[in-house]
Amino acid sequence: MNGNLLSADRVIKALPAEARKVLQVTVYDTVGSTNDVLREQKGQVALHGAAVIADQQTAGRGRRGRRWCSPAGANLYCSIGWRFAGSPEMLTGLSLAVGAMVAEQITTHFGADLQLKWPNDLYYNEQKLGGILVEVLGDVADMQSVVIGIGLNVNMPEEQGASIERPWTDLRSVVGAEVDRHALAGAVLAGVADGLPRFADKGFAHWQPAWHRRDYLSGRSVVIDGSPPIAGIACGVDDCGALLVESTTGQLAIAGGEATLLEIGTAS
Ligand code: BTN
Repeated sequence: MNGNLLSADRVIKALPAEARKVLQVTVYDTVGSTNDVLREQKGQVALHGAAVIADQQTAGRGRRGRRWCSPAGANLYCSIGWRFAGSPEMLTGLSLAVGAMVAEQITTHFGADLQLKWPNDLYYNEQKLGGILVEVLGDVADMQSVVIGIGLNVNMPEEQGASIERPWTDLRSVVGAEVDRHALAGAVLAGVADGLPRFADKGFAHWQPAWHRRDYLSGRSVVIDGSPPIAGIACGVDDCGALLVESTTGQLAIAGGEATLLEIGTAS
């Protein structure tokens, strides 16, 4: 038996009592993608509060169909299912809010002051440490089912990390010691279990100040992909989570896309 495998008991022990009431945690050794495990529960009441963690993913997905490096015994791959009452518009800014929930928990429990790169990357020292993949499954007209995937590089083996195309880091490098993935899973899930009901009440606006404190792009030259691409200086996010860009034609609020830094020598 691999002593490094994640165990459901230990994750549940790491959860505060409040989060235990809200979440049903299942831990798998290997899945294709934790998001896909929950997507199969679309429309089911049981999706709400289901949390799936895997020790390894064989088809881990990032945004825009990118692959998410998911070796065994190393990182955190988890997904949470949630059902929100309301129209699809009420989900605006959800992925940014989840990024803020996760970053706040990591700072509180591990002392690592992460930054947030619009729209939903976690960064440290110009390198990507994690990402959020929110998938909206729809449901009935006034009920929105979503799957929130969270991937964090934790104790990434160098040989596996070598396959990642962009500059990356892991939590072990940030804190200078091997990280207990059970404690991390407990902290992350607790933050999300506490934050999602608040998101349902208040929307992204509640996390806007926290987001600004951690804003990786603020004041930097960026280009947002699209046709045509938009270039300018990033100056925060609005209360819906749109990126504010000061361009030659004035300030624009960009609701979706991918931002790349224009500064020479820095990572996108
Ligand atoms: C990104 O930065 O592109 C988002 C990465 C999200 C990765 C996580 S790992 C858990 C969940 N399962 C997946 O297949 N993807 C998300």
